[in-house]
Formats: sequence, C-alpha cells, structure tokens
Amino acid sequence: MPKRKIIIAIDGYSSCGKSTLARQLAQQLHYRFIDSGAMYRAITLYFIREGVDLQQPEQVQQALANIHLSFELDEKNGACEIHLNGENVSRAIREMLVAEKVSEVAAIREVRVFAVAQQQAIGKGGGIVMDGRDIGTVVFPKAELKIFMTADPAVRVLRRFEELYPSNPAITLDEVRANIELRDYIDTNREESPLRRAEDARLLDNSNLSREEQLQKVLGWVSQLENASDKSA
Ligand code: DC
Repeated sequence: MPKRKIIIAIDGYSSCGKSTLARQLAQQLHYRFIDSGAMYRAITLYFIREGVDLQQPEQVQQALANIHLSFELDEKNGACEIHLNGENVSRAIREMLVAEKVSEVAAIREVRVFAVAQQQAIGKGGGIVMDGRDIGTVVFPKAELKIFMTADPAVRVLRRFEELYPSNPAITLDEVRANIELRDYIDTNREESPLRRAEDARLLDNSNLSREEQLQKVLGWVSQLENASDKSA
C-alpha cells in the first residue's frame, strides 16, 4: 500500500540549516521542497527595485498585486529556484542588500497574508517539506511532522559567513553576526506571526550534528509517522 504523503514543517532561527535539511528530505522522500524565506526575499527584492515605501500600506498592496512568484525544481541538484515575474532570482535574493531588509518586509501584515495564502495552496495535497519561521504555527498548524531547528549562534555565524564569502570576499564575521542577531530579534519580536516553537514541534539542535546524522535522525521520525499514518488510513 502506498504511504501517505505527509506535510513536514521546519521552523527555526536564521542560518540553522533549515533549507539544507528540507532539500535533502525532499530528495529522499520525493516530496516537494518549498523555501518560504525565498518568497519573502523575492518580495523584498521587488520592493527594493521598485522603491516601495514600506510605511505606505497602499504602495505595499499595489506592489504585491504586481508580484507573481513560482518555484521551479532544478532536477540536477534538487535546488528549488524561485522566479519573480518569470525571472530566476535565486541568486539575487541571497545578496546582503536583501538580507538587510527582509525581516522588516516579512513583518508587514499584508506581505504575510499574501505569502501564507500561496504557501497553503502549494502544500494542500501533502508530500511537501516547507521551511520558514511560522510554518508549524500558522501556515500548517496540522502538519504531521513539525521540527524546530536551532544551533549555537557562533556555529550559525560561521556557516552563513562561509556561504556568503565566495561571492562577497569583503564580508566580515562581525557584519554577518550583526545581521543574524538583528534578524533573530525582529523575527521573534514582531507582532505578526513571530518565530516561536509550536508546542508539538520536535526540537533539533544541530550544533554538533553532521548533515548526514541530522538527515538520518529526521528520516527516522518520518518513517515512524508514515507507518503510523498507514495504520490509521
Ligand atoms: O529563511 P530565510 O533566512 O531565507 O528568511 C528570510 C527572512 O524571511 C527572515 O528574516 C524571516 C522571514 N521569514 C518569515 O518571516 N517567515 C517565513 N515563513 C520565512 C521567512
């Protein structure tokens, strides 16, 4: 009997490796992977390019009405490429300029309503791994598996630095640290859907886990759940 395809919601702080885990899980399980942070980043990129004033709700609404987001799977590496109005912006959204503004944009109510509606539509049928900040609490409160990821701040800073350095050799550890600290602060203290651990989320601290160890641990959880779902089906 085919296994039921579940929803896996992964939340946690910036640079904990959420997307890496989500991508690996999706590849192993033949699920779809959606990086919800990429949606907020693409919206931010559009706002920057168009000079949208974040303090003006009408401007924000109007800009959102002109945004079409889609995800295309790169079959070769399993990467989930985000397209903004038909343009592949997967690289552009990783720029520091976007990172510096994205938490502010993601705190705007209209932006969240816009993004959450699309995330729920994409995940409706299950068979999805989505990572972000409010996936287990707001987007899919009934997800079969919820994971809350965390890691030592120093480990997170180093990981993010190593990710940014090749395209930006001028970047410093202090800049990366300041950006991560600020994003954590805004993400956990905003009024709209702040980052918090859902009561039923499993905690995954990967400070001392390799990617492979982490993957195997979570695959164990998934197979327990898929088997449990089979019995109740
Ligand atoms: O996961 P990330 O670092 O690419 O996310 C970018 C920003 O988007 C992050 O500062 C918080 C915000 N975000 C959010 O508010 N809700 C989500 N579901 C995903 C990301």
